[in-house]
Amino acid sequence: MNAIDYLRISLIDRCNFRCQYCMPEGAELAYVQQQDWLTRPEILTLLRAVFIPLGFTRFRLTGGEPLLRPDLAEIIGDIVSLPETQDVALTTNAFLLADQAQPLWDAGLRRINISLDSLDPDTFQAIIGRPGKSRWHEVWAGILAAHRVGFSPLKLNVVVIPGVNDHEVLDLAGLTLERQWHVRFIEFMPIGNDALFGERGWLPSEEIRQKVRDRWGLTEGTVRGNGPADVFQIPGALGTLGFISQMSECFCDRCNRMRLSADGWLRPCLLNENGQINLREQLRSGVPLPEIRAQVGALLAAKPEINYKMRESGTVGAYGRTMSQIGG
Ligand code: GTP
Ligand code: 5AD
Ligand code: SF4
Repeated sequence: MNAIDYLRISLIDRCNFRCQYCMPEGAELAYVQQQDWLTRPEILTLLRAVFIPLGFTRFRLTGGEPLLRPDLAEIIGDIVSLPETQDVALTTNAFLLADQAQPLWDAGLRRINISLDSLDPDTFQAIIGRPGKSRWHEVWAGILAAHRVGFSPLKLNVVVIPGVNDHEVLDLAGLTLERQWHVRFIEFMPIGNDALFGERGWLPSEEIRQKVRDRWGLTEGTVRGNGPADVFQIPGALGTLGFISQMSECFCDRCNRMRLSADGWLRPCLLNENGQINLREQLRSGVPLPEIRAQVGALLAAKPEINYKMRESGTVGAYGRTMSQIGG
């Protein structure tokens, strides 16, 4: 059985994009109020007194859009300074990254995953669902800034939607040829926008791999990471190709993570609320830390069974929440 040692910490559920597959315009979300966010000291306390003693050593900061969290650099600094920490990473849309790449590096962050669903500014703008001038250029500038500053491995996440961006998969894969960037194709999940999912469906990773094989060939690859991606490489390319195939190949039985939401819910699964505990309420109502740790330990012990049941049920769907609310 694999160790459960990877905690995804959502710092904010707000986002400056409205990606069609995640938080479509019109689906007004009830945001968590700022006073209900886990604070920087609360996060540090939970890591020190609960998660690290239970064996967690790898952390990812997500959102919504984590660059909107004002104390992001300080939170990174806190986590990096814990001696048990083995890995800290960030998942962002990169719209604000050009200016923040250097301060985040200075805070101790060393790796970033960035959403990039299209190389075409118009398609990109249609996907992110924002009016006005395309935000693609700022995102690209953010990616270049992260590259320049030295973040590594630098991963680009592409959610593939048939008829929207699937015609670009070879262009996106081609980014890895001469750059040490790692492009990951994610199968579209029925989370966040069921209407779009019903209309478009999803593209199996194997179809993308076949296109890449036909064009360049494809071999196995490796890149540092904690997630569910299967890694390949175009022969001779500097970067790798990852495939996150939760629709075609359920990976629940090798799940190694728990999720902490911006308002303090600890959830053992992306798609399942069973056993969730609100750690913010517990902290603020003065529940002693050893007691909180015991509860989290019990949830951890129950997780392999939850993973197994998810695999058996074959269900994908997220109890009415979007990725921005769950933490991606
Ligand atoms: P690495 O450590 O770099 O491997 O990161 P990661 O792949 O864990 O992180 P990232 O935030 O880039 O996640 C990419 C995507 O993988 C997410 O946006 C989800 O679409 C998907 N994903 C991550 N974790 C899970 C999970 O537990 N279940 C499912 N079904 N999908 C997940
Ligand atoms: N299906 C697959 N991935 C999704 N994401 C958001 N919504 C979905 C969905 N319905 C992922 C995107 C983004 C991250 C924040 O969440 O990859 O990079
Ligand atoms: Fe897009 Fe990520 Fe924002 Fe969702 S949280 S709208 S996927 S940028």
